[in-house]
Amino acid sequence: MSILIKNGNIITATDNYVADIFIEGETIQAIGKNLSIKADTVIDATGKLIFPGGIDPHVHLDMPFMGTFSSDSYETGTRAALYGGTTMVIDFILQKQGNSLQDALKEWKSRSDNNCVGDYSFHMAVTDFNEDTKKEIKHFIEEEGITSFKTFMAYKGALMIDDRQMIGLMEEVKIHGGLINVHATNGDMIDYLIAKHKDEGKLSPLYHYLSQPEITEAEASERFVDMTSYTGCPGYIVHLTCEGALNAVRNATKRNQKIFVETCIQYLILDASLYENNFEGSKWVMSPPLREKKDQATLWAGINQGLVQVVATDHCPFMWEQKLLGKDDFSKIPNGHPAIENRMELLFSEGVVKNKITLNKFVEVTSTNAAKIFGMFPKKGTIAVGSDADMVLFDPNEHHTLSASTHHMNVDYSGYEGWEIKGKIDTVLLRGKVAIDNNKCLVEKGYGKFVKRNKVDQII
Ligand code: URP
Ligand code: ZN
Ligand code: ZN
Repeated sequence: MSILIKNGNIITATDNYVADIFIEGETIQAIGKNLSIKADTVIDATGKLIFPGGIDPHVHLDMPFMGTFSSDSYETGTRAALYGGTTMVIDFILQKQGNSLQDALKEWKSRSDNNCVGDYSFHMAVTDFNEDTKKEIKHFIEEEGITSFKTFMAYKGALMIDDRQMIGLMEEVKIHGGLINVHATNGDMIDYLIAKHKDEGKLSPLYHYLSQPEITEAEASERFVDMTSYTGCPGYIVHLTCEGALNAVRNATKRNQKIFVETCIQYLILDASLYENNFEGSKWVMSPPLREKKDQATLWAGINQGLVQVVATDHCPFMWEQKLLGKDDFSKIPNGHPAIENRMELLFSEGVVKNKITLNKFVEVTSTNAAKIFGMFPKKGTIAVGSDADMVLFDPNEHHTLSASTHHMNVDYSGYEGWEIKGKIDTVLLRGKVAIDNNKCLVEKGYGKFVKRNKVDQII
């Protein structure tokens, strides 16, 4: 099967030009002006922007968490991602403390194998680093193509590791060419504040926010970058939200340290005032919580300064009924919010249209940088001859409104109900197939492939 896309405005992390794209099989075969190649299908992209397919490197699908499971399966989650222009996601496997990494991989594969509509990969969350776990690291990097290892500095008792384990893991991961991801918040401090608020009878979602002040994230981020400085292991801070934490990274870059930073769309455009609305605020109970307007300004600036390389979602949806598990106690509200389908359009509308970022920066932070950091470039993350034909045809002139009644995520509310979006995803291609067209999904579950990743690529 071949496809010729005519006259689209191709945007990559560095370029902006009008040309034709010829696709045969799963990859891009030619790009040029007025290509005269016969194709099975011709798509007229006049007036459309063409972006590389989005990569969301932080999602939680069908994940056991806080006594329940996130509500999107691999099928519904990757399909919703495609509707939103994201052709590939990286999900998290969670090691069970006391069990091996291989056991965890097996469990996650039992839910994901043959169920994905879009492409996917995994990070491996190491929650119990010991002599046995240490022996598994090389195999994951070299054989499984899972080259990034997630660590939690919070969620004590289930996911958190201590600094001793962190240093040991960093040393091993560095030897084999991998990367450490971190949820950088001070778990002990947060647990203290949660207990304090509960003792005082302060039980509403607002106290979720007040139990995780900025300092808990700034302190842990500083500690993490110091540990990566000491071990020389590349580090990637997930869902960074605030000025204090970004300043820790700024300091690290002063000593020439390579440290990567991800923020999420919600931290750029929503703020903590949403917690003032009683239990309604539980829709945005996530960790870290939403912050202040001044933090949004810091994050937008951080993107433009090159300190923040990735805008992800931390998509971790829960149905309203699941959120109600915490109606009398904020600490029991499952943490997470849905955004996998909304990330690209929200960032375009709130970022590009409002002149906060350029089109090239948009592509960098939604696709190219994640492909580079996580060892998939240039197969993924760009529009170039030889790359996978993953792309989004985007109409910058259409407007629409976000709503739970029209989204495709398996969750019965939207964190962005009624938001007016400028620009709209029109057509999405995944490995040479039209996956989304005219608001219809044309690929089935099982089409999504597991992408084996290479060792860490630091060419950013
Ligand atoms: O609230 C969140 N972020 N839920 C998912 C788990 C995590 O910490 O990323
Ligand atoms: Zn986290
Ligand atoms: Zn997460």
